[in-house]
Amino acid sequence: MSDRNFSTFDKIIINLDTALASVFGNPAGTGRQNPADKLDLPELTKTESKISAGLMRVNHTGEVCAQALYQGQALAAHKPQLREDMQQASDEENDHLNWCRTRLTELDSHTSYINPFWYAGSFVLGVSAGLVGDKWSLGFVAETERQVVEHLQGHLQKLPENDSKSRAIVAQMKIDEAQHATHAVNTGAADLPKSIKKLMAFTSKLMTKTSYWI
Ligand SMILES: [Fe+2]
Ligand SMILES: [Fe+2]
Repeated sequence: MSDRNFSTFDKIIINLDTALASVFGNPAGTGRQNPADKLDLPELTKTESKISAGLMRVNHTGEVCAQALYQGQALAAHKPQLREDMQQASDEENDHLNWCRTRLTELDSHTSYINPFWYAGSFVLGVSAGLVGDKWSLGFVAETERQVVEHLQGHLQKLPENDSKSRAIVAQMKIDEAQHATHAVNTGAADLPKSIKKLMAFTSKLMTKTSYWI
């Protein structure tokens, strides 16, 4: 969606609508099929279901954050092409968000209660990264996605072996996130200072620890 013809008021309404859809609803994605759709519901023990729900809740919150970051960065992007790229990536993150939510429902669980807090914080972070400049904003995307790929790899090890549905979703997300990182690097991402990378890793750890439980 191009924002060329929108007034500031329009943009505020659109961003609020996106925020509400991301946190509470099923936002529009790219229309791709959920990779878990073709799989039968796996038989899980109570403990396995609880582990899967905790991990998929973390992944859902991660996608809420990704959505907020991309929306914030798109809003503050300097070049129109970057704005379009951010919007395209955010549509793909919406696929992930919807797949994680669907899986949580199947696991008879819920999304994190603190998602509104994470959306707001990530949106401010996204706008800030965008304002610093496009190459830094892209650097932020590249580093975020790189850390997410590592995190998803860890989840593939932690998810119950027979939870084929959650595993299919996480595996596809991992492929997409790696592509987002590569695209950011190929379009001019700057390498972020080590201190920023460390701060990002610390923040995402805080998110994963809290969203697993609440
Ligand atoms: Fe994602
Ligand atoms: Fe991504």
